[in-house]
Amino acid sequence: MRGWAIRRGFCLYPFRRSLSIASSSTTHSSQLPRTDPFALVAPELSQIRADLVRLLGTAHPGLDEITSYYFLRPSKQLRPLLVLLISQATNGLGRDWPLKKWASEQACPGGLAESLDEPLSRADVLNDWNPSIPDKTTVYDPEYSLSFPPMPAKAQQPPSSIFSSSERALTSSPSILPTQMRLAQIVEMIHAASLLHDDVIDESPLRRGSLSAPQAFGNKFAILSGNFVLGRASVALARLGDSEAIRLIASVTANLVEGEILQMQNIEPHADEPLAKPSSQVAKNAWTTYLQKTYLKTASLMAKGARSAAVLGGCADGEIYKEVAYAYGRNLGIAFQLVDDVLDYEAVEDTLGKPGGADLQLGLATGPALYAWEEHPEMGPLIERKFCHAGDVELARSLVRKSAGVERTRELAVAYATRSRDVLQALPESEARAGLEALTERIIKRRS
Ligand code: FPP
Ligand code: MG
Repeated sequence: MRGWAIRRGFCLYPFRRSLSIASSSTTHSSQLPRTDPFALVAPELSQIRADLVRLLGTAHPGLDEITSYYFLRPSKQLRPLLVLLISQATNGLGRDWPLKKWASEQACPGGLAESLDEPLSRADVLNDWNPSIPDKTTVYDPEYSLSFPPMPAKAQQPPSSIFSSSERALTSSPSILPTQMRLAQIVEMIHAASLLHDDVIDESPLRRGSLSAPQAFGNKFAILSGNFVLGRASVALARLGDSEAIRLIASVTANLVEGEILQMQNIEPHADEPLAKPSSQVAKNAWTTYLQKTYLKTASLMAKGARSAAVLGGCADGEIYKEVAYAYGRNLGIAFQLVDDVLDYEAVEDTLGKPGGADLQLGLATGPALYAWEEHPEMGPLIERKFCHAGDVELARSLVRKSAGVERTRELAVAYATRSRDVLQALPESEARAGLEALTERIIKRRS
């Protein structure tokens, strides 16, 4: 079983046209279940949204306004949805589920929902006042008085009887744990923090139909508030009390930055292979770099968020579930970004809440341009100079339009989405699994 999932779930390279989606073992078709993935966890998603603003509360009204700016203009909540559905689809399956379930009912990090807000040390050591959690954080005091802290409560030992119950057999989807709910909030916070940075880098005028944060508050405040959100997400992550989930999620921020840097890299010509030759090693490298940066900047958060959800639900090493979660999130994330890159070409007007055709203007050669290069060698020099000469953007756009670039990028996205759906077969049937399957189709069909 494991070899099957790994073989089919981790392919990174663009599938050749001859291997098109039709030759994939199962295809994306209209026979997919009609489950609405968002409806399955609608109450949890609205709770997450409400709680997020509370988690971000600060005593500084200006900072408060910027940090909550993107949360008050809600996202699609795709990342929290993914965490919640993977939690539901895998809870009760892993070896350590009884332990995680038992721990969630104890008053300790990772335990009862309220204890996730407990400071890890004296409240004034954190010195990060959140008026929304006044009993857990304190206002800055110029004096720091030395006093003996209360003795920590003795850690409870789980009774051995917890391992004898088989909840999975009783209910098809055991409930989502408080730690998994908090994880869903953390991934949304990291996503929002990355957008606060991204809108500075991309000089985006709009986000979700409103002024972008840098436009509304200026670059410095946008970056500082992005870092603040990231700081709060880090504390919330530490309070989960699970070192594997902490390591996974902490590594995402580095991945996001790596992805952005990779995206800025020039595609350099090779001494004996001019860029005009689209079959060159340079073109192959350009594809590898494009897909790698797509993983880093978009899919990593989804893949590691999904994997962490399975970890928090007690899925252990040597079991397939963490691998399924990761492979699902990774393939889905790449499909999501490929569709995003297609929509950038299709957005003539302001359908995405941002101007269309932004990628070429930013000098970025995404899937449609890379495919168009195969048909129109004159695209090579444009890519190399990042469409910076007058008329380059318009010429590149017309070359893409004349080529099958957009269509082929969509096909590639479908292939990734199909892989994402296929790996779910390693999980038992459940409503949540049907929701995850339906989500792959939503990603492909999305128009914004
Ligand atoms: C949106 O992509 C941007 C991302 C998915 C990641 C951005 C990451 C960074 C700026 C690195 C720094 C992050 C942190 C947390 C320190 P896009 O520009 O293709 O999509 P868009 O059209 O929605 O802007
Ligand atoms: Mg952007």
